[in-house]
Amino acid sequence: MTHVLLIGNGAREHAIAETIRRSQREPRLYSFMKTNNPGIASLSEEVCLGRYDDPDAVVAFARESDVAFAVIGPEDPLSRGVVDALEAAGIPAVGPTRSLARLETSKSFTRNLLEKYGIPGNPLFRNFRSADGIEAFLDELDGIVLKPDGLTGGKGVLVQGDHFRTRDEAFDLCCGILKSHPGVTVEEKLEGEEFSLQCLCDGRTVVATPPVQDHKRRFADDRGPNTGGMGSYSAADHLLPFLDVSAVADGLAITRQVAEAIRRETGVPYKGVMYGGFMITRSGVKLIEYNARFGDPEAMNILPLLRTDFIDICRAIIDGQLDRLDIVFEKKATVCKYAVPKGYGLPPDHPDAASTSSRIEIGDVGEARLYYSSIDRRPDGLYMTPSRAIGVVGIADSLGEAERVAEKAVNAIRGPVDHRRDIGTEPLLRKRIQHMKILKGEST
Ligand code: AMP
Ligand code: GLY
Repeated sequence: MTHVLLIGNGAREHAIAETIRRSQREPRLYSFMKTNNPGIASLSEEVCLGRYDDPDAVVAFARESDVAFAVIGPEDPLSRGVVDALEAAGIPAVGPTRSLARLETSKSFTRNLLEKYGIPGNPLFRNFRSADGIEAFLDELDGIVLKPDGLTGGKGVLVQGDHFRTRDEAFDLCCGILKSHPGVTVEEKLEGEEFSLQCLCDGRTVVATPPVQDHKRRFADDRGPNTGGMGSYSAADHLLPFLDVSAVADGLAITRQVAEAIRRETGVPYKGVMYGGFMITRSGVKLIEYNARFGDPEAMNILPLLRTDFIDICRAIIDGQLDRLDIVFEKKATVCKYAVPKGYGLPPDHPDAASTSSRIEIGDVGEARLYYSSIDRRPDGLYMTPSRAIGVVGIADSLGEAERVAEKAVNAIRGPVDHRRDIGTEPLLRKRIQHMKILKGEST
């Protein structure tokens, strides 16, 4: 009987927990969570509530539970050295060590790695540790993106047009960032359509899962503030309506070269998920960033389609034997929609802000999958928190049908909740296709 440790408490981890539990190997699940996720708890033998910056607590729970290995969901435990601590205790993990998680946590590490090893995909960029030369470089760029380096774990990306307008504002922001961070990466703003390519890596072999498109903006038509992701879709042909076979192959080729570069650079094989955030632009596929984990919501699109036993995949990642497995995903379309509190992503003085801790009820979600995110189960029912509440996933032969299943399910969640109706719908997909045609100069 395999005992498996899962770390994480969101909808992504609920989907991972379900995928672990449907293994033919009949594993027992032990879950270490920051806050209790009732969905994960119901699939677990035992849960331990604790902090992700407390590797000793994770190791103690892993030892007590006699786990064979750990699967790490979010980035926090990775950047806090939880994998290093588990490995020191003889417990292998699906997830990189702290040093290799720099792929996500340090934007300069990743940009430099691509440059050093001649891997395509970088926009024009430069890393700065002081203000010297920033102004001259800003003058070379048509559009500007600023990425604080270190400390914030890769968070806090500032994009011209969204977060600031002028070159002078960009310079002032850089000076501010340099007061609180060791460095800032300044790069060219790319234009195109983003896609997520989540790849499995054992250090040598890299296997792509179907590409997914996430929707970061809070409101329909990509309006409003950026969020953790309001929903996502994937297509039955394992491409996307605006993305062809060669673009997906380019994203995979970049990731393969990066995995090899990491091994050569550090001497350590990367074992875990390499989730490339790519953008297809008029000049081909470019790398926006890597994450060292599955995406949330993107994990909910691909994991339910997985037909290969997930425990076998985890073991193959750990043992460096992914090349021996045939990893198969069902040829179905998926649409994921998040139900969020009406106040999600809005300023605290907004009239809807109070909705974040309200009670919700879940009606008939039909054939959709349902994954809890930030949900508090109390004696009198389910309560939301300020974060995303529940992800629902429609799975069908076509995107249209998957969208209908997801939309029906998300409407069955009652309370002061909101979601994006447009995700996976025909008009939005047409807009994405048209956007690419205009960029490539194919539009009439
Ligand atoms: P975050 O999720 O807050 O880290 O923000 C990352 C987002 O910033 C990406 O999903 C892109 O939308 C945007 N972004 C990052 N780098 C670039 C770039 N070079 N060009 C255009 N957009 C970018
Ligand atoms: N979907 C965005 C993320 O997981 O970072």
